Formats: sequence, structure tokens, C-alpha cells
Amino acid sequence: MDIAVIGSNMVDLISYLNRMPAEGETVEAAEFQMGCGGKGANQAVAAARMGSSVLMVTRVGDDVFAQTTRANFEANGIDTTYVLSSPGPSGVAPIFVDENSRNSIVIAKGANAFLTPEDIENAGTAIAACSLIVLQLEVNLETVYAAIDFGNRHGIPVLLNPAPASADLDFAQVAKCDYFVPNETELALLTGMPVDTDDQVRAAAGTILAKGVPNVIVTMGSRGVLWLSQDGAELIQGHKVAALDTTGAGDSFIGCFSHALVKTGDVRGSLLLANRYAAVSVTRRGTQTSYPTRAEFEAAPAGRS
Ligand code: RIB
Ligand code: NA
Repeated sequence: MDIAVIGSNMVDLISYLNRMPAEGETVEAAEFQMGCGGKGANQAVAAARMGSSVLMVTRVGDDVFAQTTRANFEANGIDTTYVLSSPGPSGVAPIFVDENSRNSIVIAKGANAFLTPEDIENAGTAIAACSLIVLQLEVNLETVYAAIDFGNRHGIPVLLNPAPASADLDFAQVAKCDYFVPNETELALLTGMPVDTDDQVRAAAGTILAKGVPNVIVTMGSRGVLWLSQDGAELIQGHKVAALDTTGAGDSFIGCFSHALVKTGDVRGSLLLANRYAAVSVTRRGTQTSYPTRAEFEAAPAGRS
């Protein structure tokens, strides 16, 4: 196996609005789309569509959404041995996308809240056979920390996407990761520093590098990607594309980056590829529905950088 994604799954309930409702107001959505989402599942699907073999460690509930999610993993060729079940609802995410393709997301974690450190130990043999562990923050922090610890004990590199940002995140745990991949908003929340200019982003990311994380990668949408390592800082320009729906773009970046990283070991090349993959995803509607397969990606127009 190439990649173990240990984390969340959700069913996304996406309403496309002309404008967001004000308090107490009812607005009508121009369109609605239901699809599979959740940051962990999204990252797993993007990596699998690009050609990686992916193990998913997650929990679904006992409702109709659980079947949808399980079938979706299978349709994408993802190993579902450790897609575990809990009584109660699955994770769901009501999402609102406005006419400027900006989104607001609510997550109701459901069964994701029941993924435990014991689940990781039970999946240990399968996880230990993977080349990269990929984590987000839609499951409990103690589970995330157990996964980081598992990676460290088994010599498997760990990528942490601190999304959604949690003020409780322990930086002693972050320091044990090999790749820390926030977006600029999460970086601001985690460091308490401004991120309006590229220099400010570099300064904020530098404080995390100084804690001992070898690679800090800040995704900034159309502003591009900033990569900090001991070798210095590099800004990779964003592609200029006509954005239709940016939902899950960060996850598509992480999935494609993880795929390319395990296949090539080349961080810079993997960032370039993932930057373009995410750009293609924002030109398409929905979350996972917007993630191209490798063939679709290779045929997609590049956009201007
Ligand atoms: O990052 C996008 C994702 O955030 C959506 O798929 C939604 O499910 C939430 O987890
Ligand atoms: Na999209």
C-alpha cells in the first residue's frame, strides 16, 4: 500500500446560492448536489484517482449515508477493511456556495468522533505496510496524536493537514510530523500571526519550521503554495483559472501531493503537480465530483501560472 489516510468521511450536502442567508432569513438555492466528502475521504479519493493504492481508516454510522460512503470508497479502489461502523449518524457536511464560488461549511462529525487510538492499533499491520500516513483534524485529537506516534514508531513519514484549524492543537505533536500542510487561514489561527502578504505567510510558517517540522507547506488558493524547509523558502505560483467551486480544493491538493510524493520522493515536483491538480478541481463542481482521474487530469488545460 502507498498511503494510509486516517481520518474523516462526510456526505456533503451542497446548496448553490445567489447569496448567503442573513440571520432569520430563508433563501432559495439555485441548485443542490449531494456527494461524498470529508477531508480524509477527499484526500484518499484524490490520491487513488491519480493511481496510488490507499488504505482508509475511518468510521461511518449505521444510516443510509454509510452505504453511500462505503460504496464510494470501493468505486475508487480504496481498501475499506478499516472503514469501521458505529451506531448513530454518519458524518455530514451542509455546504453553501455563493455566486462568487466562496463556500461556508458546517460539519456534523457523527461517527467520525468515535475513531479511536485502539482503531489505529487494530489496523496496525495494514498501516505499517504503507509509505505515508495522511491526517486531518476532523477526528479527535487523541486519535490524530496516536496516528502520529504510530508513524514515528514505524518509521513512516506523517503528513498533517490541520483542518479545520483547532486552537487546541499541541505543537509538540506537530513537531513530530514530516509535512505540515495548513492553508493560510489555518496558519493564521494556529500561530496568531497575520498572513495578508507572502512575507507574513513566510514569517508565520517559519515559526512552525523552527519547532522542528522539516516541511511546512502553506496552500493559498490562487495565491499559490509556499514551501518552507531547511533548504529555504519557495513560492509556487497559483494557476489562474475560472473558479466555479473551490470546495475541497485543499484536499485535492493534499491527495495529489501525497500520491506524487510516495511515487517519486520529489517534494518540489509533487507540489507543482498538486498545485495544478487543485486548479483543475476548482473549475469543476462539487467536492470529490470535481477531482479528475489521472487521464482526465492529463487531458485538462493547464491554466496560466
Ligand atoms: O475540505 C472540504 C470538506 O470539508 C468537505 O468535503 C466537507 O465534508 C468538510 O469535511
Ligand atoms: Na471543486
